[in-house]
Formats: sequence, structure tokens, C-alpha cells
Amino acid sequence: MTRTRVDDDAIIGLLRGVIDPELHDNIVDLGMVRSAYREKSTAHITIALTTAGCPLRATIKRDCETRVKSLPGIEKVKLHWDELNAEEKARVMERARKYARDNASPTEIQPTTRVLSIASGKGGVGKSSVTVNIAASLANRGFTVGVLDADIWGFSVPRMLGLDARLEAKIIDNDSTRPKIIPEERSEGSGLLKVVSTGLMIDTEETALMWRGLMLAKAVEQFLRDVQWGYLDYLLIDMPPGTGDVQMALARLLPQAEMLVVTTPALSAQKVAVRVADMARRSHMPILGVIENMSAFVTPDGTRWPVFGEGGGVRLAAEIDVPLLGSIPLEPSISAGGDNGTPVSTSKTGAAATAFNQIVERLVSDIAPPLDLSSCSAHTISEVSVSVGNPRK
Ligand SMILES: Nc1ncnc2c1ncn2[C@@H]1O[C@H](COP(=O)(O)OP(=O)(O)OP(=O)(O)O)[C@@H](O)[C@H]1O
Ligand SMILES: [Mg+2]
Repeated sequence: MTRTRVDDDAIIGLLRGVIDPELHDNIVDLGMVRSAYREKSTAHITIALTTAGCPLRATIKRDCETRVKSLPGIEKVKLHWDELNAEEKARVMERARKYARDNASPTEIQPTTRVLSIASGKGGVGKSSVTVNIAASLANRGFTVGVLDADIWGFSVPRMLGLDARLEAKIIDNDSTRPKIIPEERSEGSGLLKVVSTGLMIDTEETALMWRGLMLAKAVEQFLRDVQWGYLDYLLIDMPPGTGDVQMALARLLPQAEMLVVTTPALSAQKVAVRVADMARRSHMPILGVIENMSAFVTPDGTRWPVFGEGGGVRLAAEIDVPLLGSIPLEPSISAGGDNGTPVSTSKTGAAATAFNQIVERLVSDIAPPLDLSSCSAHTISEVSVSVGNPRK
């Protein structure tokens, strides 16, 4: 094949984060990217699929667009489609086979898991509350949702989900001597939450000190590698306030990670959140949207009290050019739910529950839908798994 233009390294780098959900590898290493170059502010990308009518096309398209649009100077992404020829298909299947054989991922998170990191830059704006409420609402819809409390020293997820058991570590794989940490599980509706937090591990001063000695990014890396997460539709990561190193580690370890930025209506929170967004862009992590928390307090007679000011979410979304996914009112039920371990999003009524559930509806249907495995090469991939004796978990 002759290439008429030189591929753009930055675009190719971002496309390495686009995973073919069935082949479990990124579209660049799978040889599916025919060309990727920029012409003024437009990125042109040609992708060859296993079959032209592959239903995963929409997922791959959306992923390519979100990622590549995060590049400075790129305003439009034009995708062109092609089909792999028989020889290329055989090569792709060989790679998939190899993947199934040694599954050499640096983490226990499967590439088909949608990873959402919840960040803000500023402390106390509601990252943890947003994380547990979104997680519980996703689980309520039948999804299996991992919750990783990356706030190693300031953990709050266990309390907010009413968990206090100690995590166990077990040797899972007979060939390995390395024990795996088993997440704490909690059923929610027809789904499941799987939670890992240092708050479920620290029981003595000694272990607390041990964790304190670990670098934050290293601790998060360990949680991604040494936890037996198993199957997950979503992984939500509650980020510690304003730490660049954790974010960089995440971007490196989980190329599929995307970010939700939480802010309050206050100008100060918005300014700090812009810095987090900048950092996300520098580590090539796409930002899916902004969630405004602690918006106006509404009294029973309907009067709005914008305690922390107004408009922070809208302004931030406009400034970093992503959608505002919703505004969560300031409501005592949120802190009460956090204190008694029952996320308010699991209740059917109330303004806060409605706001959380509307955000989750948008995530699931449009902004970050689960990766659908039942499509074009599903049949072939299960053949691959069976042929190497590694049926999908
Ligand atoms: N919309 C809200 N209405 C009322 N209380 C809220 C709301 N959002 C969060 N809170 C309360 O505010 C406090 C801080 O929230 P949270 O712990 O979720 O913030 P955070 O950003 O994770 O903080 P940190 O930076 O310390 O990790 C908690 O007590 C929580 O219950
Ligand atoms: Mg927190």
C-alpha cells in the first residue's frame, strides 16, 4: 500500500487510546489505521474495519473524534472507512489470538471497560459524592461498576457507600505467587458495585504509615494491577484533589480513561478546574463534560438560593469546550446519603436524585455508552478465546 501523506504522530498517539472492543487492542497496533494526517484544522483518518458494516463503527467513530479533537489546533475530525483485506484480517486475528494468550496488559482493567475519572482540582467540591452517586445509579441500571478511590490519604468512598469490611488478598491464579486484592462488593438494583479504597485496608497505624510512604501514583498503579477487578462495564475513579502525577499515571496505564470535571458555581472553583482540564489535555485524556455541584439551594416553596454564586458550570464548560452534563443542587439529602451510606441517586424522588439520574442517562445513552460486545467479530473472538483455552471472563 502506498501512503500519500506522512502520518501525524500526535494523532496516531491519540488513536492508540481507541480500543477495538472485540479485539481487545488499540486500532493502531491492530493495523486498522490506514492513514492519519491533518489538513489545516481538520484531521483526516482512514480506518479499515473487519467488515464494512461493523456495528462497532459508531463507537470507534465517537472515540476517535473525542480523542483527536483534544489536540490543539484540531477543530474537525473526518473519518473515512475501508475494509481489511483477507490477509490483513488474518493478521488482526493473529494479534487478537496473541492478546488472548498472554493478556499482557499492565492492569487488571479490560480494554472494554469504560473508565471515567472524576476530577476537580479543588478540594471539597463534591468529587466523591458525584462518584458514588453516579456509580450507584449506573449499577441500578444493571451495570457492573468498579469504584476506585484514588484519594489514598483522604478516602471517603467507603463511608459514602456504607462499607467497612477489610479487603482480602488471595492467590487467584495457581501459576502466580502474587496475591490479588478482592474488591468489596455491594449489590445495587440489578447491578453490582466493586469497591477498592485504602479506607478498606488501613486498620492499624502501621498500615496507615505504610500507605503514606507510598507515592500516590504508585498506590493507584497497584490498585489497577493487583486488584482482581474481574468484568466491569464501568470503572469510576474518585481522584484526589489537584494531583498531576496520579492523572499522568492513569493516562499511561489506562489509555481508554476519560474525565468528568466537577466544579461549583463559584468562580474560584472554576479557575482551578480549568487547570485540571489543561493537565488532562496535556496527558491526552479526553474530557467528556462538566458537572456543576452545589448549585442553588431550593427551598420547599421553590425559592432558589444560589449560595455559591451562579454560572460556574456553564462558564467552565464553555471555556474548555465540552458539554455541561448537569447541575446538582445543594441539598442536605446528598450529605445525609453520604453519611449513612445510601447514595441519594438510588432514591426515586427529590431534585438531587433526579439531577444525578439525568446525568447518568446522558452518559449511558450518548456521552459514554457501555462498549457493546455483541457484534461483528464477536463470533471470531470467541473462537480465538476457545482455541487458546482462554474463554472470556
Ligand atoms: N450537592 C451537595 N449538597 C449538599 N452537600 C454536598 C453536596 N455535594 C457534596 N456535599 C457535601 O460536601 C462535602 C464535600 O463533598 P465531597 O467529599 O464529595 O467532596 P470532594 O470534592 O470529594 O472533597 P475532597 O477534595 O476532600 O475529596 C461532603 O460532606 C458532602 O456530603
Ligand atoms: Mg473526595
